[in-house]
Amino acid sequence: MIDFEILARDGFARIGRFSTPHGPVDTPALLPVVHPEPRSQTIPPAELASVFGLPALITSSYILWRSTALRERAEREGIHRLLGVAGPVFTDSGAFQQHAYGRVEVEPSVILGFQGRIGSDIATVLDLFGEPEASLDEARETVRVTLDRARTARSAREGLLAVPVQGGLYPELRWQSAEGASTLGDVLAVGGVVPLLEQYRFADLARVLLGARPALAPERAVHLFGTGHPITFAFAALFGVDLFDSAAYHKFARRGSLLFPEGTVALADVREPFCGCRLCDRLPLTEIAGLPALEREAAVARHNLWMCTSEVRRVRQAIRDGALWELVERRAAAHPALIAGLRATARGSSVFLPVEPDSRTSFREGTPISRERPAVVRFRERLSRWPAVPGLARLHARVPLTPDSLATIPAQAPDQSDIPWVVPSPVGAVPLELSEVYPIGAWVGPEEFDRGGGVGPTAVSLDEREPSPEAAERVTRWTARQTRALLTWEFPSLGSGVAAAQLRGVRSPKTGRLRELTLDARAAFRVGNDGLPRPTWIGGCWLHRTVPAPGHRVVVHSDAVPFVREGRSLFSRFVARASPETAPGSSVLLVDEHDELLAVGRAELAGFEMGRLQRGTAVWVTAHARSSVASPVEPVSEAPTAE
Ligand code: GUN
Ligand code: ZN
Repeated sequence: MIDFEILARDGFARIGRFSTPHGPVDTPALLPVVHPEPRSQTIPPAELASVFGLPALITSSYILWRSTALRERAEREGIHRLLGVAGPVFTDSGAFQQHAYGRVEVEPSVILGFQGRIGSDIATVLDLFGEPEASLDEARETVRVTLDRARTARSAREGLLAVPVQGGLYPELRWQSAEGASTLGDVLAVGGVVPLLEQYRFADLARVLLGARPALAPERAVHLFGTGHPITFAFAALFGVDLFDSAAYHKFARRGSLLFPEGTVALADVREPFCGCRLCDRLPLTEIAGLPALEREAAVARHNLWMCTSEVRRVRQAIRDGALWELVERRAAAHPALIAGLRATARGSSVFLPVEPDSRTSFREGTPISRERPAVVRFRERLSRWPAVPGLARLHARVPLTPDSLATIPAQAPDQSDIPWVVPSPVGAVPLELSEVYPIGAWVGPEEFDRGGGVGPTAVSLDEREPSPEAAERVTRWTARQTRALLTWEFPSLGSGVAAAQLRGVRSPKTGRLRELTLDARAAFRVGNDGLPRPTWIGGCWLHRTVPAPGHRVVVHSDAVPFVREGRSLFSRFVARASPETAPGSSVLLVDEHDELLAVGRAELAGFEMGRLQRGTAVWVTAHARSSVASPVEPVSEAPTAE
């Protein structure tokens, strides 16, 4: 089975890696479509790795198989020698030709066996292409037949196998198909979407992906057949698509169309050499038009491929930055159809909630859809369960709170500490206690700039005078209240917050923000820039005593217990159980089978993913018993990792 590993992530999108007999594939990856017939190749396959940095490619085993000469050569030499490449070769099966020409003339077992004999690194089951117009019965048949063939293929093939996901425009069928494919395939290849991509039906594409997504196994690589235009990469990555395959770079080149992440431009309309890609550096766009036809086509194809590769890199960076939604919203400006796709995505945001990270470093509002991102949906959902938040008792404070506004709040408010004070925020009134919590505290939106605000810290004048005893008392009470609130927000199983009253909040003298929560004068939680309390070892012990199992627990397999106790991070394959509400980035307690606390950490995976991935880290250990012995109030040392 595939050894897929998640190295970094943003929601479903992941930076991943898996191995093949011809080397690793780093995802998200673009697999350029290469014609198996050398005379039909616009760019020689060897150049894809050496010039474009694309070691893996995809080709059609069916086109090869149909030509007796090529078939015999491929069987003799193997696909790698035939194409003249050393990297991973993914082969498709022929379902695309069924879509394009109405039929394929090969038995499923024959084309699978052929892919094996020519040494394909990833072979594809011959699926039944489900057209978007398919009736429910027809679409159901595409799922049934594809899964039948996948079962046969799985028992016949030892190497990596791609199982297509079909089902037309029916979300429940997509779900069924994805579930079946997940038990059989190493690569789950969502198919039947080429017409949607060609017709810019991104709302339909979103519904297809929303239907399939919950059933796609997280430990498998996900491929989307036919995603070749760079406007689609960020959008597809949002759903956790790891592999894009593209014939677009040469298909568009043939008709003289230049691809950009912002859309398509006809070469004939180009009057300015505006592209700065590596190719256009040497051969400006304005000079390409004057070339002889074949050279022109190759030049446009090279430009197009540069745009595709750099956009995939941009997507990867956005995943690492936790800024993929922001990139997708920017890319949606390329075409209203993409905005429609994004709206349809936002309507299905419940699908994203299990993998929505605890926090990100920033939240930039870019479009009206920003306010419907899963981060906001989850915040609102948690807020709806928060004790009474009526619209009364509005404070006129700016959020996040500055020392200035903090100084005025206790004066305005919380003597009667049971009154729910709320402040306005971009998502409506929120309890003052939560105004620094992600995404509210991290929010950067246009309204503030509209009012004349700017970036960077605003000058604040801290009142240097000793506060009156009454004012000091009010601040103390307010701090206690905010401490309780933050703990019960982040650790809902603490319940009413009675236990949380044992902790004392400490504010930064510089910013006035809550920075640390102490227990008997020892640091128990540190409040990060995301406004959320993160336990130290002492805080972890307190949580563990206070919240009964399985709350916030990840149970470590006995083989890994000694390592975790020493501060090594926990690998996914050593997770015995994890509470399902665990979100990536959330704080967790690592315990053994008897609920003895071993360490405290931050989840890299969602609870439902832990134990399923056989490679990679599930939880980064941030504190353990030994880390606190030397100096209980110092920051905990970074725990080392080792396999
Ligand atoms: N290429 C484009 N779409 C498809 C599809 O649905 N199945 C397969 N096997 N290949 C494709
Ligand atoms: Zn260019």
